[in-house]
Amino acid sequence: MSTIYELTVEAVEAGDIITYHPMRLAAALGIKDVNRLAVETNIMGSKALVTIYPHDPLAQVILNDPQMLVMDDRGRIWIGRYHNGRPSLLRLYDPASGSAQRLLLFGTTGAGKSTAGQIILAAMKRSGIAVLYADLKGGQSAPEAYGQAGHGADGNVAWRVTTQEGTMAQLRTTWLTMMERQERYSAMGRSKFLRDRPDPLIYQIVDEANRLLEKGAPYRDEATFYIKDIGRTGRSLGIGIGLFAQAGHLEEMGGSDTLRAMLKEGEVVLLRWTSSMMRQLVTDGLLPAGMVLTPIPKYAGEVDLVSQFDEEHEDDDLPGTQGTAYNVNGRYPSSKMRFWNIGSDMPTEGLDPMVLDLYGPGAPPEIEEAAWDLIGDAYGQRLDGPEAYRAIFPEPEEDGDGEGAGGGGKKKSSARAASPVPEQAKPRSRTLRDRVQAVLEAHDDPLDAREVLDLVNADGGRPVKLGSIRNTLTTLKD
Ligand SMILES: Nc1ncnc2c1ncn2[C@@H]1O[C@H](COP(=O)(O)OP(=O)(O)O)[C@@H](O)[C@H]1O
Ligand SMILES: [Mg+2]
Repeated sequence: MSTIYELTVEAVEAGDIITYHPMRLAAALGIKDVNRLAVETNIMGSKALVTIYPHDPLAQVILNDPQMLVMDDRGRIWIGRYHNGRPSLLRLYDPASGSAQRLLLFGTTGAGKSTAGQIILAAMKRSGIAVLYADLKGGQSAPEAYGQAGHGADGNVAWRVTTQEGTMAQLRTTWLTMMERQERYSAMGRSKFLRDRPDPLIYQIVDEANRLLEKGAPYRDEATFYIKDIGRTGRSLGIGIGLFAQAGHLEEMGGSDTLRAMLKEGEVVLLRWTSSMMRQLVTDGLLPAGMVLTPIPKYAGEVDLVSQFDEEHEDDDLPGTQGTAYNVNGRYPSSKMRFWNIGSDMPTEGLDPMVLDLYGPGAPPEIEEAAWDLIGDAYGQRLDGPEAYRAIFPEPEEDGDGEGAGGGGKKKSSARAASPVPEQAKPRSRTLRDRVQAVLEAHDDPLDAREVLDLVNADGGRPVKLGSIRNTLTTLKD
């Protein structure tokens, strides 16, 4: 029983649309395991290709060589296969327009988001893409995606953080890098990003993004601002963004506005999802019109009813469907694909050597040196937590004359980036913004960042670094 049957079906009359119910079709064909059946329709819905497999064609999807993960010359990576053996590709870069992409990976817990994410992250390392990776599950999602300790060090991503504050620091770092590129490219008279000439493609990835964006999350509004702005402006500067999320509702993702543009124009992969989320994506018009997606069950294989009186029944575990998905912007959007099956069969103690192999040894690509001064220590020292946050966000402005104000100063709302840092984390002296402003006001001539640095450091206050001065100058420009 190894024959594959392929049926071509055509609508009887012009204008008719072929509709079907996967379960009913399977039943009519006498197939117990619906995974053995694949149906594709053409865009008009007038033709369909029905394939019947002897076994679930997606049971084993093996990556033979990690080198296959390298991005092709059209900016696509190979993430897995369709039922017919054809490659499922995900676009990370569009060489024609010079643009980075927006990636969205949706699925419920256990659907395979983080593992799919590792495939993508490994492909990024192998393709020369610098990655800032935030794992809001405290680093548990993809332990092998560990970050560099500093410039030039080994690692699988350039910078990994595992806290809300660290994630905010990353988002701002990405955003500042974007600002720096914008200025530098416009000075060069460039309208397009040219990959690796001289800057690398960069991706900001947030796993468990729902924890950052759901209602009541501490940095929801700020995070929404950065994600929207990076999504909008980053593309043409070679800076992409990717969100992996489990969400029952768009509200849990910073509201539907945040995601609308990403879903409409981004690269979307839907793993196993909740039906309410799916319904919402469809009714909100966020999926292509007329797109019918068969839900992905949790288990593959024949599921028969078992009577409690049936003694013959064996309680075997059914194979799971984790990693099965719809690649909405791929070649066959309504056909199931499956991500490469990666990692050791049994959980390993510590990092999984087979997953580490995907990334390969050595240092990952990094953010270009041209941005290092501006983005400062949060990235330079690969900080995380409140420390990372304080290193990159401008100090909140305080009332009165500041010096030694004793912490009670209220935050003014003018600084867009000022955020709900825990009270005790706030610096208690005159803010750097005040000091920079004082220097600028005292000088009529334009000053460059280094001159401002020298003057600020001469004012008797806490010594500061050039990176912080640049940061502050950017916020004054806004
Ligand atoms: N592509 C895959 N290859 C091998 N195992 C996978 C794959 N995707 C998921 N799994 C298995 O399923 C489990 C849950 O996947 P995970 O990626 O952590 O899901 P999520 O992030 O959506 O909660 C993993 O621990 C792994 O055992
Ligand atoms: Mg996960």
